[in-house]
Amino acid sequence: MRIWMATLVSLLAAAAGTAEAEVKNPLNPTTGGHFEVVDPAEKLGPDKAEAIYHRMLKRLRAAYALSGERTAGAYARWQRFNLAPYESEQHGGRYLNNYGNTASRAYGRFESAGILPPGAIIAKDSFSVNKDGQVMPGPLFIMEKMAPGFDAKSGDWRYSQIMPDGSILGISKGPGGENMEFCADCHARVTRQDHLFFLPQDYRAKSRQ
Ligand code: HEC
Repeated sequence: MRIWMATLVSLLAAAAGTAEAEVKNPLNPTTGGHFEVVDPAEKLGPDKAEAIYHRMLKRLRAAYALSGERTAGAYARWQRFNLAPYESEQHGGRYLNNYGNTASRAYGRFESAGILPPGAIIAKDSFSVNKDGQVMPGPLFIMEKMAPGFDAKSGDWRYSQIMPDGSILGISKGPGGENMEFCADCHARVTRQDHLFFLPQDYRAKSRQ
């Protein structure tokens, strides 16, 4: 575990690039980007997960925003569709939150949402807790509905993933697009509901529709 952590720390440092970038990154391990929680063996219940999330929120968002990607800087002001962070095996066993811009409003009706319009964006931020109780920032996962014809196979959704050091792992049909193909493939299992999986029932915020 120690070795893994050390590797991660050096990877993060390498990704940050210059010394200046390291100082600027609010999640840089050397500046206290992650912290520890007690009872790491336990699964986090909604209250505990929410409390941890609030402790790291500002720094998490500032780190994503380093990417310069529009959604990374904007999603904090969007509607939140979940009540507390929920665990997702599909996204690496991390705790996730779902937010959407105005154009994605219908997402709040979940399975009755229909086809979302071009311009709809859903953003999921994330964190994980390892078995030593360390809270680690996770990626920001984004789906953006593009104009018809962008990609019939993906239902015109463009996938991207922003890492918690502000780097961009990939954007469908853009830089690192090949890294996003597995996103589209898995989401294509629910083509019948516009490639959207939605949230566990217990975590759904009441629709504002
Ligand atoms: C193995 C299947 C699988 C893969 C691979 C996958 N997802 Fe998901 N995704 C899901 C499931 C299931 C949900 C709903 C529950 C949840 O949040 O885990 C979801 C939800 C989402 C949502 C919220 C919209 C919705 O569908 O409700 C976004 C945004 C998202 N994923 C982005 C991504 C991105 C970006 C990638 C690739 C980096 C990715 N996903 C890879 C299964 C997957």
